[in-house]
Amino acid sequence: MMIGRTLAHFRILEKLGSGGMGDVYLAEDTRLGRRVAVKVLPAGFESDPERIRRFAREAQAASALNHPNVATIYEICEADGIHCIAMEYVNGQTLGAKIGEVPLRVAEVLDIASQIADALDAAHAHGITHRDIKPGNIMVTPRGQIKVLDFGLAKTGPWIWRLCRSRRSCRRPWRRRSTFERGRTDRSLSRSRTTSALDTFCCSSITVSI
Ligand SMILES: Nc1ncnc2c1ncn2[C@@H]1O[C@H](COP(=O)(O)OP(=O)(O)O)[C@@H](O)[C@H]1O
Ligand SMILES: [Mg+2]
Repeated sequence: MMIGRTLAHFRILEKLGSGGMGDVYLAEDTRLGRRVAVKVLPAGFESDPERIRRFAREAQAASALNHPNVATIYEICEADGIHCIAMEYVNGQTLGAKIGEVPLRVAEVLDIASQIADALDAAHAHGITHRDIKPGNIMVTPRGQIKVLDFGLAKTGPWIWRLCRSRRSCRRPWRRRSTFERGRTDRSLSRSRTTSALDTFCCSSITVSI
C-alpha cells in the first residue's frame, strides 16, 4: 500500500492513475512544500534491470525537453528499493476522459491538436520520438493547456533526422509540424523503421465526438 508512505522526500497522498509502466500518485514534496506527481515502477519489476533501464530512459527523454506542453520531470530517485520519477503534477483530466464527457467544439479540437503537435515538434527537434501518443497519455488542464506525458516508449537518437533529411516532406517545416495523420495510429505505423521516425496521433477519436 503506497498511500501514506514517504519515498525519499515525497509523501504519497493519493493515486492519480496507472498504466503499463507504472502507477502514478499525487504526492507532497516535503522539502519544497509543493504537490508533485510520482510515478512508481510497479512491484515485481524492482529487480528487473531491463525495466529499471527503461524507466530511467523514460525520465531522461522527457527531461531533455523544456516545453509548456510537456510535463516537466523534476527528478528520478530510488527509495527502499522502489524506483520513482517525480514530475510536475498536472491538475486536470486525460484527453481520453475529456473526449468521453462532452462533444468537443471544432476550435477546441484544433487547439488541442496544435498544442500536441507543438510538443512533438519540440521532441523531434531533440531527436526524441514519443511513439505512444494516445488520449490516455495526454492531460488537459481546466484552462485548456495540453501536457504530454509518458515517454516510456520514446526513442532517442540522431537517426530521426538522418531519415528525415532524405524525405522531402520532412524538409518542409509546415509538413514536419503536422506529424499527426487522421485515422492512423502510431502503432499501425510503427512496423517500419521509416514511419516510426514520425509521431502520429489519431484524431478520429476526437472528431467522432464533434
Ligand atoms: N504528471 C501527472 N499529473 C497528473 N496525472 C498524471 C501525471 N502523470 C500521469 N498521470 C495519470 O496517470 C496515468 C498513467 O500515467 P502514464 O505516465 O501514462 O503511465 P504508464 O506509463 O503506466 O502508461 C495517466 O493516464 C494520468 O491519468
Ligand atoms: Mg501511459
